[in-house]
Amino acid sequence: MSDMLAWMKVKADLLWGIAITVVVGVISVIVAGMIYRKSASRRQLDGVHKDIRAIRAAVQRMREAPPWPERIWGVPIARNRYFTGRRDLLAQLRASLSDRRVVAMYGLGGVGKTQIALEYCFEYGHEYHVVWWVRAEEIPALTMDLAALGSKLGLDDSRGAGATASAAKAWLEQHRDWLLVLDNAQSPSEVAGYIPSVGTGHVIITTRHPDWVDVLPLHVEDMLPEEAVAFLLKRTERVSAGGAPQLTGDLGYLPLALEQAGAYMLATGLSFIDYAALYRQSEAAMMSRGGPLIGYNKTVVTTWGASLEKAVAEAPFARDLLGICAFLAPEDIPTAHLVSAAENEVSFRDAVAALHRYSLVDLEDGALTIHRLVQSVVRGGLNEERTSITMLCIDIPH
Ligand SMILES: Nc1ncnc2c1ncn2[C@@H]1O[C@H](COP(=O)(O)OP(=O)(O)OP(=O)(O)O)[C@@H](O)[C@H]1O
Ligand SMILES: [Mg+2]
Repeated sequence: MSDMLAWMKVKADLLWGIAITVVVGVISVIVAGMIYRKSASRRQLDGVHKDIRAIRAAVQRMREAPPWPERIWGVPIARNRYFTGRRDLLAQLRASLSDRRVVAMYGLGGVGKTQIALEYCFEYGHEYHVVWWVRAEEIPALTMDLAALGSKLGLDDSRGAGATASAAKAWLEQHRDWLLVLDNAQSPSEVAGYIPSVGTGHVIITTRHPDWVDVLPLHVEDMLPEEAVAFLLKRTERVSAGGAPQLTGDLGYLPLALEQAGAYMLATGLSFIDYAALYRQSEAAMMSRGGPLIGYNKTVVTTWGASLEKAVAEAPFARDLLGICAFLAPEDIPTAHLVSAAENEVSFRDAVAALHRYSLVDLEDGALTIHRLVQSVVRGGLNEERTSITMLCIDIPH
């Protein structure tokens, strides 16, 4: 009996022991869970505190940063209500700007660079705090326009426009969300000192000069055939496209030539077919005519004439070289065959470089390409005797 009692006591002790162990275990798990939850929520709380501290610091930084001006819109040119097409280039420009900050749109005079930059300002200007247009063709105008931005920002410097322009540039370097257009820049070296060198604002350069360093180049070429027809219809306020595809092709899909033809047809009432017939009789003469043009004060003939004179001033053989190219098939003219027409190879290479600098010819893999319309304008303006003598000197392969 006593054995039985002893056995039962041991059993009861064992059960108690097990029960106590289980209870202690459960309590430990609950307490551990509570501790864990507490430290997890502690960590969460720390995270929230960290976020609050970061937000406070950002607010403080914003308070200390120079105050934002009112929205500033400095585009002195009206939007072109006849603007047509160029969607690909506008999209490319937008993507390139967010990528590279400074983009140089280059191409032949009259191909539509300025118009694309202008349309970009009107389409995307609302995304910027400051949109400012600078005439970059001549340095005095460039300085004045940049100084005008300085004045607008309250940064007038008593030392003059140059100092105010520098203050504007420094301001741009310290701020973001601005767009600066340097329109019709002649060369990289002329405008380099005016491009804000740091910061995240966007710069669009329009230029005929094809070679830029540290700037993303964007080649602007002729309109697409369907864009050209749509533009001509819009510009002449006509609905029937009869003869327009042929005429736009004759005009090389070049926007300025289309603008001139459109303005002329609007003024004279000529149909597309009649204009095309007249154009074929005298291409160069028609390209020196137009009505009042939208956004451009030169004709195809005068604008390219001015480029050619500049190229000739830099390299005298440029005139003869362009004259020769005007009579050859326009694409991929191998330069090797033309060298013999020049006095020596140096003056030849100088002439190639000068024509390329003004986008009068494209240069790729040692071959020249000339726009068909440039050819006809040059042919129309050439002294025939001079051309034929020069042509005799070309080394035509047999
Ligand atoms: N997309 C377009 N839609 C309608 N018209 C256009 C378009 N692009 C150009 N034009 C017409 O052609 C003219 C010449 O275009 P723009 O001034 O843009 O040429 P550019 O390439 O800047 O020439 P430049 O090298 O001489 O500055 C414009 O004034 C406008 O009338
Ligand atoms: Mg321009």
